[in-house]
Amino acid sequence: MAFRSLAPLLTLAPLVLCQVDYSQYVNPFIGSEGPIPGQAFGGGDIFVGGAVPFGVVKLGIDTYEANRSISTLNGGYTPNGNVTAISMMHESGTGGFPKYGVIPQMPLTTVAAPVNILDNQTYWQSRVGNDTARVGYFKMALANGVAVELSGARHAGIIQYSFPTGDKHVLVDVSHYLPDEKGGYSVQNYQDGQIHIADNGSVYTGYGTYGGGWNEGAPFTVFFCGEFEQPPDDAQTFRGRNTDQTARFHTFSNEPIPQAELGGNSRSAGHLHDRVGALFTWNNSDALVIRSRVGISFISEDKACAFKNSEVTSWDLNDTVTAAIDEWNSDVFSNIKVDTGDSANRTNLVLLYSSLYFMHLMPSDRTGENPLWDSGEPYWDDFYTLWDTFRNTISLYHLIQPQAYEGQIRALIDIWRYEGYMPDGRSGNYNGLVQGGSNADNVLADAYVKGLRGAINWTDGYAAMVKNAEVLPYNTFSLDDLTGSTKEGRGALYDWLEVGYISVDRSGRCISRTVEYALNDFALSQVARGEASEDVQKYLRRSAGWQYSWDHTVQSVNTTPVFSGFMTPKYANGTFNSTGYNPALCGECEWSAISYEATPFEYSFVIPHDVETLIDFMGGISGFESRLDYIFKPNTTQQDLGANGAGIDTIMNIGNEPDFATPYLYNYINKQWKSVRQSRALAYQFFKDANYGVPGNSDAGALNSWLIWQMLGIYPIVTQPVYLLESPWFSDINITVNYNKTLRITASNLGPDSFYVQSVKINGKDWKRNWFEHEDIMVRGGTIEFVLGSNQTIWETGDVPPSPGHLIINGTSVNSTSSTAFP
Ligand SMILES: *[C@@H]1O[C@H](CO)[C@@H](O)[C@H](O)[C@H]1NC(C)=O
Ligand SMILES: *[C@@H]1O[C@H](CO)[C@@H](O)[C@H](O)[C@H]1NC(C)=O
Ligand SMILES: *[C@@H]1O[C@H](CO)[C@@H](O)[C@H](O)[C@H]1NC(C)=O
Ligand SMILES: *[C@@H]1O[C@H](CO)[C@@H](O)[C@H](O)[C@H]1NC(C)=O
Ligand SMILES: *[C@@H]1O[C@H](CO)[C@@H](O)[C@H](O)[C@H]1NC(C)=O
Ligand SMILES: *[C@@H]1O[C@H](CO)[C@@H](O)[C@H](O)[C@H]1NC(C)=O
Ligand SMILES: *[C@@H]1O[C@H](CO)[C@@H](O)[C@H](O)[C@H]1NC(C)=O
Ligand SMILES: *[C@@H]1O[C@H](CO)[C@@H](O)[C@H](O)[C@H]1NC(C)=O
Ligand SMILES: *[C@@H]1O[C@H](CO)[C@@H](O)[C@H](O)[C@H]1NC(C)=O
Ligand SMILES: *[C@@H]1O[C@H](CO)[C@@H](O)[C@H](O)[C@H]1NC(C)=O
Ligand SMILES: *[C@@H]1O[C@H](CO)[C@@H](O)[C@H](O)[C@H]1NC(C)=O
Ligand SMILES: *[C@@H]1O[C@H](CO)[C@@H](O)[C@H](O)[C@H]1NC(C)=O
Repeated sequence: MAFRSLAPLLTLAPLVLCQVDYSQYVNPFIGSEGPIPGQAFGGGDIFVGGAVPFGVVKLGIDTYEANRSISTLNGGYTPNGNVTAISMMHESGTGGFPKYGVIPQMPLTTVAAPVNILDNQTYWQSRVGNDTARVGYFKMALANGVAVELSGARHAGIIQYSFPTGDKHVLVDVSHYLPDEKGGYSVQNYQDGQIHIADNGSVYTGYGTYGGGWNEGAPFTVFFCGEFEQPPDDAQTFRGRNTDQTARFHTFSNEPIPQAELGGNSRSAGHLHDRVGALFTWNNSDALVIRSRVGISFISEDKACAFKNSEVTSWDLNDTVTAAIDEWNSDVFSNIKVDTGDSANRTNLVLLYSSLYFMHLMPSDRTGENPLWDSGEPYWDDFYTLWDTFRNTISLYHLIQPQAYEGQIRALIDIWRYEGYMPDGRSGNYNGLVQGGSNADNVLADAYVKGLRGAINWTDGYAAMVKNAEVLPYNTFSLDDLTGSTKEGRGALYDWLEVGYISVDRSGRCISRTVEYALNDFALSQVARGEASEDVQKYLRRSAGWQYSWDHTVQSVNTTPVFSGFMTPKYANGTFNSTGYNPALCGECEWSAISYEATPFEYSFVIPHDVETLIDFMGGISGFESRLDYIFKPNTTQQDLGANGAGIDTIMNIGNEPDFATPYLYNYINKQWKSVRQSRALAYQFFKDANYGVPGNSDAGALNSWLIWQMLGIYPIVTQPVYLLESPWFSDINITVNYNKTLRITASNLGPDSFYVQSVKINGKDWKRNWFEHEDIMVRGGTIEFVLGSNQTIWETGDVPPSPGHLIINGTSVNSTSSTAFP
């Protein structure tokens, strides 16, 4: 049956021969399961299926779980859920409400009653045996006897159905999308659709329009072009009234799901948002392999067809798989080379290359596929979200994906040009949802201070940052936060500009947003140094605004020892609300809480631009050290961490992003060995080669990139051209940085108990500081040579890492900012 084309194999073979196939070390299931076996709930929410790096298409299954109270469908894939479709677009690692799960197919062996093709519950399928997933490949066996294999290209994919004897159908329900099983405010909806069948039924084209979802997005339209290798014997379109419960929308309210009306070559949704689709049928009752390739585009059906034809050039599934593997190896995995020989620790190889895989599934490179404007700039979507990825993911893109990264930044700026603000989250071509600050500021600053210029228009880049810092975005009145915009910008800027901090009486998340706006303004000051020197001092001063919310008299509750001085809720009138305050608690840590996804205890450590003042505020080096020591002690958490808890019982919570840099803060008191000890312990405990292998949502790869830095033995300080030295997990690592330079990291004496740094050389020179600058080795390449041992040694004698935003505000009034100490 296979009409194999030899050409691609011949051209690809030499490439494969001369490089290591790192894809064999990727376990695409890491994060697919949470603490309850068989449930995605509390896990990574990852996508499982066929995709290329930063691909538009993430081809995988959509599922539905009977136990709705703990159901999590965000990546489409769940370990045990019933399969409702195989669809082209997915997110990976996201929490909140699902988004995408659109442009589907579903193989059926009967469409007779009780099956109703408008009601997925009548045809969905459980799976038999275990699914198989490798880079670029997914296979499952459905209970109806159909085996499904698939692979993804950039804007297209191929699906191969092995039907058993009997009836054979493929259903295309244009109105299909990933639902949220609990319903509510941010569910997706289907708004419009069209489908047309051509070429004896073997080709179908059309579009679907969908809105809503986690980021509260405007409708977006996806055009599609599907083709079957064997023309079906029967192909009919269908329509049916839409009974989805969607607010502000015409539906056939509170009516049962109707039966589909079948027939004809064309269907349109019309003004009542009718559901449309097509049913393809093969009469041959023998066991039969049926293949389909599908392309999608945000521009037109023609482009969708062109992608299908140019990206999936043969009907041999293996060709697409091989092409995907080659792309992952050459564009991603081979940028970090470690020894894969017999003596290598396979678990560590799996953790490294799987983590690289997951941090390259999003954002999506939609260059040439922007339906909103045509500027010639790169276009990227699915920043989901910068709140997660600004902390260290983007700094790794900077090193190993310089071209993509520059494109992402140009896209962020271009979104400001045409829509007024850069996004913090963006998906389906729409900005939202902002969880804290305007963290595109941090992304731009991180690139700027490391010298990234390329084709980025930094005049515009800085102007986009100033918009975030100065112009209050209109209130979106989201149910998540009625006090200000959740779409873009800084929704609590009215507080920040007026009183210098976020107040507890006028705004949600006062602690976390104060901390984040401070770093955002520090980011502005960093770019202003090169782009608008007159602004530097202004934004530096504002970056110290967190100090207004620091109550030196507040004490920790139920801790031994007792710690004094914390980020504390403060009214707009300048009075702290500290009566009965316990900084180790944050209510639900949600939108309306005083802090988001972490307690004030944790946020009180998150001032990367001025750790010097922080140390001072915490009682000097010994006070800082004992408070750090404390948060790693078991049984110290007082906050119920809920589904994302991952069994974490320390105040330190590596499952959420705010604490990412905290384990490394010991470097700031020249006790680097403690950073190594604490961060390694976290990595060993919570990151595993297992389905439940990450502590909570992977957040578009943010958790995964944290682990990669840990394994490389360095950690970036965002918005500064600074990296902390830690301890690598491999004795020899070659990283391709700055397009084609090599950074080699070696570690002699590495062993199970021998991972504390004894000495370091950078570019052959003895290195006495526990940090270095981007310029030292990331521009022209270079070497870091670690000598490791089991001794917990204070090897560093040089200056501690810098605090370039160091500045002390006197008193608690905005006007008393006279005492400044610039670096
Ligand atoms: C799958 O569907 C069947 C039949 O509707 C149902 O009994 C079962 O509970 C579902 N399984 C899951 C995991 O939701
Ligand atoms: C499947 O059916 C359920 C129940 O009608 C509905 O809530 C859901 O949106 C449908 N679609 C999918 C893809 O699960
Ligand atoms: C599925 O995987 C589990 C866990 O790896 C294993 O115990 C089980 O035997 C597998 N089942 C089949 C049918 O292969
Ligand atoms: C596809 O590739 C796999 C190995 O990657 C091989 O085992 C299989 O036989 C190939 N299938 C075909 C149809 O070539
Ligand atoms: C790193 O590069 C050096 C120099 O080319 C080479 O000798 C070494 O084997 C490489 N190590 C790895 C793990 O690739
Ligand atoms: C491999 O490394 C892991 C840490 O990731 C460690 O737990 C394990 O013992 C090592 N395996 C071997 C065989 O050394
Ligand atoms: C940057 O964009 C502005 C307009 O937004 C333009 O005036 C300026 O010439 C551009 N700078 C460069 C270097 O292209
Ligand atoms: C500030 O506002 C709070 C809350 O409204 C109030 O309890 C407090 O008394 C006020 N303080 C001053 C000094 O006005
Ligand atoms: C002030 O703090 C108390 C105790 O933490 C809390 O119950 C109250 O809601 C807070 N007031 C405001 C306006 O947030
Ligand atoms: C933590 O607390 C639990 C319950 O209070 C207790 O059973 C356990 O022994 C404690 N563990 C440690 C290490 O203190
Ligand atoms: C290295 O990459 C840079 C940036 O793309 C390019 O200008 C240069 O020609 C490359 N050098 C080599 C030797 O490939
Ligand atoms: C560890 O330190 C102790 C005391 O400083 C020293 O005697 C010992 O040789 C060191 N061990 C190693 C492996 O460096």
